[in-house]
Amino acid sequence: MRTWRSLLIVALSLALLLGLAAACEEEEKEDKTPGPGETPGALSGELEIFSWWTTGGEAAGLQALFDLYPDKCPGDVEIVNATVAGGAGFNAREVLTTRMLGGDPPGSFQVHMGHELTDTWVTTDNMEPLGDLFEQEGFNDVFPQGVLDIVSFEGEPYSVPVNIHRANVLWYNTTVFEDNNLEPPTTFDEFFEVADTLQAAGITPLALGDVEVWTSVHLMETVLLGSLGPDAYDGLWTGDTDWTSAEVTQALETFEKILSYVNSDHSSLSWDQANDLVISGDAAMTVMGDWANADYEAKNFEDYGWSPTPGTQGYYDALSDTFGLPKGAPNPDAVTCWLRLVGSKEGQEAFNPLKGSVCARTDCDSSLFNPYLQSAIDDWASDRIVPSLAHGAAASQGWVTEIVDAATAFVTDKDVAAFQGRLDDACVAAEVCS
Ligand code: GAL
Repeated sequence: MRTWRSLLIVALSLALLLGLAAACEEEEKEDKTPGPGETPGALSGELEIFSWWTTGGEAAGLQALFDLYPDKCPGDVEIVNATVAGGAGFNAREVLTTRMLGGDPPGSFQVHMGHELTDTWVTTDNMEPLGDLFEQEGFNDVFPQGVLDIVSFEGEPYSVPVNIHRANVLWYNTTVFEDNNLEPPTTFDEFFEVADTLQAAGITPLALGDVEVWTSVHLMETVLLGSLGPDAYDGLWTGDTDWTSAEVTQALETFEKILSYVNSDHSSLSWDQANDLVISGDAAMTVMGDWANADYEAKNFEDYGWSPTPGTQGYYDALSDTFGLPKGAPNPDAVTCWLRLVGSKEGQEAFNPLKGSVCARTDCDSSLFNPYLQSAIDDWASDRIVPSLAHGAAASQGWVTEIVDAATAFVTDKDVAAFQGRLDDACVAAEVCS
């Protein structure tokens, strides 16, 4: 009898102890989950951040985020900066795809908001949903609704936007313009007049570096926008604008004519080497996204001016760099804290002035930004927004690749009819046109 009672007491005490231990464990677990705006417990291990940010302003912006990481995310996480050089990520995406398909995702990777994110990684079930994080961090209140919609699929956000870039910027060397009594062109006619004057003075009118052909596609998208206007431009990506129409022919003819004013060594230069021609004054203008602004800053070049590319005054050809949490990513706690940092006011205010982009958040302090970026902040708030083709916002990755391939042939053969036919075929292959 006594043995039974002793056993019962031992069993009850054990149960009590186990219960207590479970409760403590539960409490510990709860402690690890940070509240809104709070930092998590000590983090450790490696955090691999995959991007294509290797040039001056790109690398500087990324480093600013890395430098802030230990403050926001206490512990001793070692950040692994996994970059694959090559503008606009065409090289990086190949490496990333191989890794993702091989079950070897990085902690987090740079990906453009829009079709590049959604069609490639979200609808294929490769990304973790981030709704809880967005709620905890108040992201739903600080990103514009349009941006929230684009990073979401079926109501759930899948990546955190760190910035907004503008693609349709004409950069020019102000001394060259002043010396030749020129004003930045606002129409294609003005562009050709300015270009003729420059050519007669022995200056390359437009710098292009299309060793990677995305830069020609980038130039082309600004010509399509300036020539067709924003409604018809948007219609190219929804099937509402006919790729075989006379308006598209005219735009492509304008593009062809513009290509006759570029430097002869364009096919051996990168975008930033083309930018160097503007810096040295060998070329007067270049069309590039506003990461070119960060390139000027990183190279201490102040003698630049900017304006929207011809015909695009009042339109903002936009793209955004974002980061998400791939399914099966190593060290997900460290990644989640990276995402908190990327979306935070502090993170975006440190990153964007160096990167040449504006905050995706609406509450950044604009006094931290240079005059170009302050003008971009104003334009972003008031312009008509359209999605960039070359930078993943407008069309799926497969469609962009088809267009890049067609453009590769076009920059050499200059055959407008053949190019237009291939562009139409690409739209059909993407199942957007019939
Ligand atoms: C864009 C990217 C920018 C910048 C640029 C040149 O696609 O969004 O952040 O890096 O490529 O590499």
